[in-house]
Amino acid sequence: MKIIRTKAELQSAINHNDKIGFVPTMGALHAGHLSLVKLARENSDFVVASVFVNPTQFAPNEDFDSYPRDEKGDAAMLESAGADILFSPTAEVLYHDGFDSDIKAGSAAQGLEATFRPTHFDGVVNVVARLFDAVKPDIAVFGEKDYQQLQVLTEMVKTYNMPVEIIGAPILRDEHGLALSSRNAYLSADELKIARKLNVIVRKCAQDKNINSAKETILDAGFKKMDYIEERWGRILVAAWLGKTRLIDNISVN
Ligand code: PAF
Repeated sequence: MKIIRTKAELQSAINHNDKIGFVPTMGALHAGHLSLVKLARENSDFVVASVFVNPTQFAPNEDFDSYPRDEKGDAAMLESAGADILFSPTAEVLYHDGFDSDIKAGSAAQGLEATFRPTHFDGVVNVVARLFDAVKPDIAVFGEKDYQQLQVLTEMVKTYNMPVEIIGAPILRDEHGLALSSRNAYLSADELKIARKLNVIVRKCAQDKNINSAKETILDAGFKKMDYIEERWGRILVAAWLGKTRLIDNISVN
């Protein structure tokens, strides 16, 4: 697997007759990301994975500086999952013309995450459009863990007629049902125990649709604060705080 840092190098390393699969990530990879790479492999001939901690999707009070970074570990994992290229650009490569963008998040970016992170999805579409422009993929795989992000990006490719098929990958969970996330690394042993209750509560809520009772149970379980728990797109979506860590999850109501 090659590690590439510029767009020109990337385009010369790609065989343009191949069907190109793309997995954008922010690194700190875990088994969930590797399942995205495997899905990309199954749906394409050549897989590019990117690692880029995107400054424009973090608000000033968020964890951009402390976000876990481990390029060596990430590269080894991507290679073992069958990626052909790791594209790891600098901010200067992706944002050579500054942070502004004509590509904006659409209606899927209303409410939920956007209520608490109002600049987040504009940052996500900004960087994903730039990454698509650099990689020129035929398909791109995103995790259902960030379910609203998946909807926002699906809407983006439609609105801006981008020639990319977006594929959603199911959430990977640990043996207690906790959705895998790079931010789980922030949890203490005690917090991890509480975090593992979230999926159980949300699963019950997906069955009984009792949002108020789920809210109470999440706070009783030891979560410090609820950002939201809501039904949309046939799923119950949740974001809640455990100490300084914000966890999200979602479960299908069907
Ligand atoms: O889901 C993520 O890790 C990021 O939001 C993404 C899509 C790589 C854009 O920075």
